[in-house]
Amino acid sequence: MQPPTVYLVGAGPGDPELLTLKAARLLQLADVVVHDRLVSEGVLALVQPRARRIDVGKAPGRHPLAQVEINELLVRLAAPDRVVVRLKGGDPFVFGRGGEEALFLLRRGIRVEVVPGITAASGCAATALIPLTHRGFASGVRFVAGHCREDAPLELDWRGLADPDTTLVVYMGLARIEEIARRLIAHGLPPATPAAAIAEGTTARERVERGTLATIAERVRAARLSSPVLFVIGRVVEVLAPLAEAARAEEKLGRLEVAGHA
Ligand SMILES: C[S@@+](CC[C@H](N)C(=O)[O-])C[C@H]1O[C@@H](n2cnc3c(N)ncnc32)[C@H](O)[C@@H]1O
Repeated sequence: MQPPTVYLVGAGPGDPELLTLKAARLLQLADVVVHDRLVSEGVLALVQPRARRIDVGKAPGRHPLAQVEINELLVRLAAPDRVVVRLKGGDPFVFGRGGEEALFLLRRGIRVEVVPGITAASGCAATALIPLTHRGFASGVRFVAGHCREDAPLELDWRGLADPDTTLVVYMGLARIEEIARRLIAHGLPPATPAAAIAEGTTARERVERGTLATIAERVRAARLSSPVLFVIGRVVEVLAPLAEAARAEEKLGRLEVAGHA
């Protein structure tokens, strides 16, 4: 008999083909799937119709479950021989509160197995053709959360973050991008530092806006990008940009020609 177990599974950034084989197998075996709003329909389509699906995410007009309620729900659901999957966007251990859920479950004697997922930074960087590190451009990368409770000021290590040799990836920064850019500039990052905003990365609705630290907030506003949006700041944003644009244009041309012959 399998002891009560909760599988904390990363759903990746959106494209169902970016799921791990393990995640896909667990979704097919699941008796219950507790998921967030950010998990794409394509991924949820892998859940068997017999399984119970519980959406604990925010939706317009509906109050999301508080974290403590989610923790308690998982405890209640865990049972011998029942496959309980807690499905989270991206990777459960990157700004996903997976650590809190694991702690809560383990303290109550429930087995936890974590299945990593492709985090938004990796997924979005790949489809936007931005290498997160690149020799001569960035020797490291930092992931930070660009939001905080209520209207409190963002307490980040601005001096440390304003490092031209490190790529900065900002999760949940849409509402505060103006402030983030301003503070990075104030702490020494050149205003001309390249920056990109990627909305709904890896999905068919993906949009990428490129600019600089000085212009990115305005670009995002003008393009009316909406959540989820990820920011990549640093010289790596420009490494492949000209070649990527040219390749895309050629690809589009090729497609048009093929379509023209059809
Ligand atoms: C609560 S965090 C969850 C991160 C997730 N655990 C991960 O590893 O990607 C949500 C934030 O992740 C980013 N994000 C997640 N999926 C994304 C996507 N497909 N495109 C752009 N940003 C995404 C956005 O910044 C969003 O506000």
